[in-house]
Amino acid sequence: MLSPEEKKEIEAEFPLYPTKQAVCIDALKIVQRHRGWVPDEAVRDVAALLDMAPDELDGIATFYNRIFRRPVGRHVILLCDSVSCWIMGYERMRAHLTERLGIGLGQTTADHRFTFLPNVCLGACDRAPVMMMDEDLHADLTKERIDAILEECQ
Ligand code: FES
Repeated sequence: MLSPEEKKEIEAEFPLYPTKQAVCIDALKIVQRHRGWVPDEAVRDVAALLDMAPDELDGIATFYNRIFRRPVGRHVILLCDSVSCWIMGYERMRAHLTERLGIGLGQTTADHRFTFLPNVCLGACDRAPVMMMDEDLHADLTKERIDAILEECQ
């Protein structure tokens, strides 16, 4: 069941788009902002609100890698594994993050503080290696820079 706040925020988007279906990405982001991720029942409820088939909306939700279909930690780390970052030290950064966090790619720390995920090119290839922490892009990564970024996140 969508909360009254979620429903209100989604419906507030309707006048901004030509069709209800066009609101789908924003609607998923609204649910994720409230819950931290987008569970199956929310996909069904959002689909009903937007007059879409649940499978159609689920296809969109799973296509976008910033829409989380499983629970994630308070902070989500997206480490770029595309070509420029591979060349410029991806393996060293991945190994350092794995060591610091005690988890591998696709996992969440036991305290739910961090989720560590792979990601395709983040669009800052000239400053590789690159990762995102939540909404912030971090480029020219080094082990020391990663340590400082992790320290800032509670
Ligand atoms: S290859 Fe990593 S940001 Fe483009």
